[in-house]
Amino acid sequence: MYLKPNKILSSKLSRRRLWVHPPEPPKEFLLSDPTKGVYLSKTKLLNVPFFWDFRMLINPHISVVGVTGAGKSYMVKTFLTRANLTWGTNALIIDWVGEYNSWVEQTGGEVLRFGQGSYLNLLDLAGMKPIQRIKQIVSALDILTDIGKYSIQKRFLEQALTEAYKKKKFILTKFENKNPPVLEDVIKELEKIKKTQKTEKKKDEVQECIHRLKPYVMKGNDYFAHQSTVNLDTIIKKGLVNIDLHELPSEEMRSLAGLTILQMLKEKMRFEGWSPDKGLKLFIVADEAWKIAKDDRSDLITIVREGRKYQFGLIVASQNPTDIHKDIFSNVGTLFIMRLMFKDFKDHVRSSLNYSDFVASQIDKLGVGEAVVYLGYAQKTDFSNIILLDKIDGEEPLSYYKLKGDGMEINFEKEKFKRQLKEFGLNTKQVQDVCSTFEEHDNTIHIIQLINKLERYGFGPSTIITFMREMGLKEGELIPLFSKLQREKMGIDGDKLVRLVVEDEEIKEN
Ligand SMILES: Nc1ncnc2c1ncn2[C@@H]1O[C@H](COP(=O)(O)OP(=O)(O)OP(=O)(O)O)[C@@H](O)[C@H]1O
Ligand SMILES: [Mg+2]
Repeated sequence: MYLKPNKILSSKLSRRRLWVHPPEPPKEFLLSDPTKGVYLSKTKLLNVPFFWDFRMLINPHISVVGVTGAGKSYMVKTFLTRANLTWGTNALIIDWVGEYNSWVEQTGGEVLRFGQGSYLNLLDLAGMKPIQRIKQIVSALDILTDIGKYSIQKRFLEQALTEAYKKKKFILTKFENKNPPVLEDVIKELEKIKKTQKTEKKKDEVQECIHRLKPYVMKGNDYFAHQSTVNLDTIIKKGLVNIDLHELPSEEMRSLAGLTILQMLKEKMRFEGWSPDKGLKLFIVADEAWKIAKDDRSDLITIVREGRKYQFGLIVASQNPTDIHKDIFSNVGTLFIMRLMFKDFKDHVRSSLNYSDFVASQIDKLGVGEAVVYLGYAQKTDFSNIILLDKIDGEEPLSYYKLKGDGMEINFEKEKFKRQLKEFGLNTKQVQDVCSTFEEHDNTIHIIQLINKLERYGFGPSTIITFMREMGLKEGELIPLFSKLQREKMGIDGDKLVRLVVEDEEIKEN
């Protein structure tokens, strides 16, 4: 047998892209008309600008994984800003830790704070029939509590929910736009059901069911027990909205809020249906939603599995890939893998995607803001659908730092603030230290934190007061602040301090 050399045109050869390892998708799959795609950064291998375009992908859902500080939120912020410019896409962020607040406020968006005056009635119908919503409520409690193990309790809960809607004159198979019942009504129905039970055992089961609901109606914990103050119809059309859940007292409460919002939006968007020419109306972001990103029954997973059925894209971000259900990885149209540290985490991602050793070695080398991106193209392709991206080319989304005090808030333009710190006498390292404290806390710190730092650098109280005055703090704000600081240092209650003396100690270091 002979090996016969074949004549081959160089253009044919180059199309095989033998020299690129791994081959990137061809340019036409990466580049897009800037008015049609969202630019993120350039590819590492061929330096081609990468534009994310949902029309090329199997679905618009995105997952982002990476250690803390890898640049997930930065990427999401850049992405949402540009998606809004390009397609007018609105965004609703379900924010577990409150890290998007100042960015959303400064970009002119709206922040809704659960635990601080925003309520969501768990029995809200959000356009659904009571019979549908009852199923969803039971399913949410099934995921978040262990009620699923007690089928008899689940049945009592369903019965009480049904009675509560009926009592308010709802027809179970029809959506009606009127005030639905609240959790207290469901508890009342359970009390009634308990009375009608013949055996002690059954009475106990109903009582158990009541116990499960009680924490949600307790004063101070009743975030889901009043008529909704949040109107989902309007907040999904408002540009950028952040739902800050970090003030809620437990992970269960945060998850219940997240899951409920998803359940309700999913039904709303199902009516609209998917069509690429309608564009992409909304992104729903779930950052660190670990509890609801893992459970098989969670709507987060159903939405991703169902792909293009809805007129919105989901963005699921997490520090820990093992907190994200494998179905999310294997079904999302786009997966951003950012810096990962632990072997377990890397193995989890790799077992869902099956990439080469080369890609694995690239993941090991990722720096802040860089990503390995998996793209699920809508059409069948014969090229690699993994790209290596340089540091996300973001526009500095936040240019302000915020100082918070009791009942006050001051914004400082970042660069100017840095200059002022330098003029005040801080060295470069100290300026960096102050700035990173801001960055670690969503660009917002308490003024006492800043004063403590300045004192640690060796500045005396009177110098600090002069600085604060220059920064624009008013006398009426400064005195209570320093007296509070002094009280804290002396470990005494507020009322006992009658005179505040501001005097400088010797400067310790500079
Ligand atoms: N592409 C980038 N270009 C410039 N700075 C970046 C980039 N990505 C991240 N950073 C900076 O790195 C820091 C951490 O980024 P970010 O808050 O996005 O991390 P994260 O992955 O969301 O972390 P966490 O899991 O703790 O929320 C921020 O100060 C951010 O400004
Ligand atoms: Mg983050």
